[in-house]
Amino acid sequence: MTQNIDRIDHILKLAPVVPVLILDDPSIAVALGRALVAGGLPVLEVTLRTPAALECMKAMTAIPGAVVGAGTVLDEAQLRAAVDGGAQFLVSPGGSPKLLDAADRSDVPLLPGIATAGEAMTLMERGYRRLKFFPAEQAGGADYVKALASPLQALKFCPTGGITLEKAPAYLKLPNVVCVGGSWVAPSDAIKSGDWSRIEALAREAAGLARS
Ligand code: 3PG
Repeated sequence: MTQNIDRIDHILKLAPVVPVLILDDPSIAVALGRALVAGGLPVLEVTLRTPAALECMKAMTAIPGAVVGAGTVLDEAQLRAAVDGGAQFLVSPGGSPKLLDAADRSDVPLLPGIATAGEAMTLMERGYRRLKFFPAEQAGGADYVKALASPLQALKFCPTGGITLEKAPAYLKLPNVVCVGGSWVAPSDAIKSGDWSRIEALAREAAGLARS
């Protein structure tokens, strides 16, 4: 269906930060997810970038309190696999016509990415009002998102890409930003060493960030 704004808003408003996860070991996925949820970040985006990503995502859907979605959804096959695996939301770095057609046939909400006003307008024509801004830091940062607010008043964004604890507040104070995404809350060295208390602490810090 065309983007269900209430449904995607409900998810994006659960926390100021969506952890963007690159995982290759299903056996640690639940422990990682529990640490993030315990720290106050219930919305978990598992990127479909590794052979084990889908298994990791499926495992995480059993975590109490977690809202688990698939990221880096690039085509219809990935979209279907993510939905069949229990994804509650879908994220893509862009919004190709075929992917949008596939999303129209699913009731799981898609958050497609844009990096320009033109791309945003194309998605507006397809009924989208909530978009990922990607890659946020490289594409122009918080000033760029701020500049989109006046001409594109119907839109709100989840900027992702290059964002850190220090950079997040500049985005989160903007009225056209709902939340930000980032991998900094789950660093690969902490995942490798199973340092769940460090990840929980990083999540807690992120969860405490103020929004507009
Ligand atoms: C991504 O899709 O890779 C996200 O934008 C995460 O970016 P980050 O690793 O820079 O937070």
